[in-house]
Amino acid sequence: MGKLQALSLYADFRKDLNYIEKELERSVDSASPIIRQASLQLLHAGGKRIRPIFVLLASEFGPHSLEDITKVAVSLELVHMASLVHDDVIDNSDMRRGLETVKAKWDNRIAMYAGDYIFSRALHSIGEIELPAVHQLLAKTMLEICEGEIIQIEHQRVANQTIRDYLRRIKRKTALLLSSSCELGALASGADATNVRKLSRFGYFAGMSFQITDDILDITSTDKELGKPAGSDLLNGHLTLPILYVKDDPEFLPYMERAFAQTLTETERSAMLSYICNSGAIEKAEAVSDLYLQKALKEISGLPDSKAKKAFRQIAAFIGQRKY
Ligand code: IPE
Ligand code: IPE
Ligand code: MG
Ligand code: MG
Repeated sequence: MGKLQALSLYADFRKDLNYIEKELERSVDSASPIIRQASLQLLHAGGKRIRPIFVLLASEFGPHSLEDITKVAVSLELVHMASLVHDDVIDNSDMRRGLETVKAKWDNRIAMYAGDYIFSRALHSIGEIELPAVHQLLAKTMLEICEGEIIQIEHQRVANQTIRDYLRRIKRKTALLLSSSCELGALASGADATNVRKLSRFGYFAGMSFQITDDILDITSTDKELGKPAGSDLLNGHLTLPILYVKDDPEFLPYMERAFAQTLTETERSAMLSYICNSGAIEKAEAVSDLYLQKALKEISGLPDSKAKKAFRQIAAFIGQRKY
């Protein structure tokens, strides 16, 4: 995680971020030891906290109360956490943030309810905000994430999908939550409508770039850097952007078939990853990610100068270069 935490935004907003972290920890307290342990393990394993950071930074563009903003920030990180707990069930993933997933440590049934519990906690945390628009937007975002995840299941192992299909999917499963993090932070702080709109669009474009980068890293990083096996997306039948660029190569097809059938040997897994890395697919995907990042930066440039604006720029640069 080091690099993100080394950004000067952490010095500028340290007090607020520490407060949010403390409240996040308090929020997952439960009478059920399993739920408490599962949530705390996930919290302590790390995570970049991008969503609460977006909430906090966006709130700087309105008068805001830190109490209110913290409730929103905690809520957004909890929605994210819950979706990860469920995502690991869907992807049958045993490792997350370098530790055992809830579904691996306990089982799928526990993971379902632990995820539901964390979702409910998210609603509880944001419940005290007296702005209907906030609740409507959060509810809409959660609906879209579910739709995104279902579309992802429908698209699993489907070879004849398009880049448009992919973009529509990642919009729902990732970009909208980042967009909503910015929008909700801005709304809850009382920012004016023009800035709310710019921040929302920034979050959306940054989110698209963020997920494309995540999908690239799944191929280009080591198992250790990822905290799970490299190539997991393909092994799970997910055709991410780099794969869509390489999937029609006749030499790649046997790898893909064996990955989908889960019959790849370790040697074949690394050969498959090298094949993708040498095919030009990564560069093409990086170019798309970069396009979204440029759009994100354009939205930011229209905001009044401030520490928060500088911090958003730093995060955009981080997304462009991130290795984890
Ligand atoms: C992982 O999100 C899932 C995606 C949407 C790519 P993050 O990369 O923000 O996960 P953590 O919270 O830092 O572990
Ligand atoms: C997670 O996307 C999507 C959600 C937000 C539920 P990924 O499946 O790419 O996330 P990782 O790679 O498992 O963290
Ligand atoms: Mg996953
Ligand atoms: Mg991924």
